Amino acid sequence: MSFYDCLKLTEEPLIELKNWIDEANTNGAPLPHAMNLATVDKTGRPSARMVLMKSLSDEGLVFFTDYSSQKGRHLAENSFSSCTFWWPSTDKQIRIDGECSKVPDLDSDRYFESRPLGSQISAIISRQSSEIQTYEELVQDSKKFKEKNNEVKLNRPERWGGYLLRPFRIEFWENQSNRLHKRKLYQLDSHKWKKSLLSP
Ligand SMILES: Cc1cc2nc3c(=O)[nH]c(=O)nc-3n(C[C@H](O)[C@H](O)[C@H](O)COP(=O)(O)O)c2cc1C
Repeated sequence: MSFYDCLKLTEEPLIELKNWIDEANTNGAPLPHAMNLATVDKTGRPSARMVLMKSLSDEGLVFFTDYSSQKGRHLAENSFSSCTFWWPSTDKQIRIDGECSKVPDLDSDRYFESRPLGSQISAIISRQSSEIQTYEELVQDSKKFKEKNNEVKLNRPERWGGYLLRPFRIEFWENQSNRLHKRKLYQLDSHKWKKSLLSP
């Protein structure tokens, strides 16, 4: 089962990222492409949450969200972000620092169209991270929207779409005995990935 699209992949650390996700998948990780994404607000305060990586290429990692959500507002003010993957079954961590930018509208349209109807409706009726009065109202809004728009092809709301996280630092961490963990760091230097090892 493929959890994400894999596009052109020739760069060593991105290939390794794919291999570790695939290995976690083979080892039974339920959502091997789930990553914890941290953003910062304009005062420099960080906030982190899980998102799903939906495509991977030499350019970076793509995830989809509501641009008007808290993370979207953060990224509009500070495009730098950081994410981590960790899988219990392999006990490996990947840590990525990079810069986010919105993907082209067409890519967001294409992904939106591929989503199940319920997810499309949720993206339309839910203004992510805004306060709501009751959960029941939200469910009702979703039901009403579905009834009203039966058989209609739904369009992606403009405030919903993808971000490309372009990494400039990728660290691979592997658990080893006696806390002598392996840490391998790739850093982008003049468009080339430079490799080094870090002490645990
Ligand atoms: C495993 C997992 C995967 C998630 N994937 C996404 C995702 O791909 N996109 C998204 O917007 N929210 C996703 N969420 C919800 C976010 O963690 C978060 O609640 C939401 O995006 C609002 O975050 P914000 O208020 O910081 O913007 C996921 C949550 C979990 C637990």
